[in-house]
Amino acid sequence: MKQRSKTLKFYLSDGTEVLFTSGQTILEALLENNIEINSVCGAMGTCGTCRVFIERGQELFPERNELELERAKDLNFVANERQSCQITAIPEITIRIPV
Ligand code: FES
Repeated sequence: MKQRSKTLKFYLSDGTEVLFTSGQTILEALLENNIEINSVCGAMGTCGTCRVFIERGQELFPERNELELERAKDLNFVANERQSCQITAIPEITIRIPV
C-alpha cells in the first residue's frame, strides 16, 4: 500500500498544528494527530459530540448536510459550530474543540 504523505495542516485555537491528507474529515485528522475529541456515534453523524467551532475559515466550508442540519437544530448549534465527522479538512483554518 502506498504511504500517503500528510503535507496539509490546519490549526487549533492554541496554535497546535494538525496535519492531514486531502480528503480527510476534521475528525479523522484530529484522531490521527492524537488530539482528544469525542465521537460517540463513530462518525455516523448522529450524535453531535464531535462538534468543533470554526474560528477562522468558516466561509470556506459547504453548507451543512442533512445530518448536520438535524443535529444543529436539535442541539442549538451556533453558525460556526460544525460536526467534525461531517466536514472535510481545509488547509490553514483554525478550529476550537469545546471542553
Ligand atoms: S461522531 Fe457522532 S456526529 Fe460526529
